[in-house]
Amino acid sequence: LNNGLARTPQMGWNDWNSFGCNVNDGLIRQTADVMVSSGMAAAGYKYVNIDDCWSTRSRNASGDLVADPQKFPSGMKALADYVHGKGLKIGIYSSAGLTTCAGYPASLGNETRDANLWASWGIDYLKYDNCGDHQGRTAQQRYTAMRDALAATGRPILYSLCNWGQDSVWTWGAAVGNSWRNTGDIQANWNSVMGILDSQVGLESYSSPGAWNDPDMLEVGNGLSGTESRAHFSLWALLNAPLLAGNDLRSMSAETRGILTNSEVIAVNQDWGGRQGHKISDNGNLEVWRKPMADGSVAAVLLNRGGGTATVSTTAAALGLGAGTSYSVRDLWAHTTGSSSGTVSASVPAHGAAMYIVSGGGTPPTATALRGVGSGKCL
Ligand code: DGJ
Repeated sequence: LNNGLARTPQMGWNDWNSFGCNVNDGLIRQTADVMVSSGMAAAGYKYVNIDDCWSTRSRNASGDLVADPQKFPSGMKALADYVHGKGLKIGIYSSAGLTTCAGYPASLGNETRDANLWASWGIDYLKYDNCGDHQGRTAQQRYTAMRDALAATGRPILYSLCNWGQDSVWTWGAAVGNSWRNTGDIQANWNSVMGILDSQVGLESYSSPGAWNDPDMLEVGNGLSGTESRAHFSLWALLNAPLLAGNDLRSMSAETRGILTNSEVIAVNQDWGGRQGHKISDNGNLEVWRKPMADGSVAAVLLNRGGGTATVSTTAAALGLGAGTSYSVRDLWAHTTGSSSGTVSASVPAHGAAMYIVSGGGTPPTATALRGVGSGKCL
């Protein structure tokens, strides 16, 4: 969406994966505090996002949504002021239907009223779900109505579509929202993360600055092992996915914090080299993914989905680099730089990934070449 927002994938946090409906003022304030004190804000995370279950069970007499006074006793405006005071931004949630997934009032038919209310509170981000009665209207109609209502407020509000990949949202999402969920809900286990990864194949051509594929929020630190969390984070970074932490930041381990704040991996996510990362090979459980970087280097993730340590390999040529005798290979997790004459290979633990930036090899390929115009045959 050409609203000036999310020119690089949005980064932040959302309460849903760890807290479900147990959201409240204290949680949001404490999370904002920790976002700053933990170094997450300095690493680029800036949106603190409230998900479902924040309102009362019905609108007030004038027809407005009301923040649940038990959960948010100081009100949303005061909360937004607090979050802004930390140098951060705040997000809210609704649905393009009559009710949210948890049964709270939602915004279909009240788009202008609700968008104006959120703008008056100082809201910076809307996650717009797909639950509730759709009143016979298509997803495109329902999501476009909110796009227009948000724009009419005059406040910059990042617009995150959450219709779970239905109605081939990637084919129209770029004109409607800043990102679009393209799968069902992620869960904090390896199979879920891998299942979502599989569903990303082929969607890479639809994203661009301001318009990102959203394979759902992060489960880093939520029951995945450290190895699995590093793989998950590496892959979501390579996919130019929104990086929305879904763990309890207040109690995260040093390892989880280290993963979420790995600046070299984040730099891959925030770089637009002309194409989102994509899979270039798989061999049973062993996969290679690459993403062109704006400086002509290539980011690579070597993934081992299987249950035992394995060697995963690729070559500079397969990554799309030009011919050469020596390449630089930067390990984004070990933070070391090595060199290679063309093979890039790693011993990768079960459910793990290695991630590199590979550069060199003469003239870097153009983004067009990496996009594979002409089916990768002679250009
Ligand atoms: C479904 C969405 O996909 C989730 O991310 C979350 O927002 C829930 N709805 C809330 O009910």
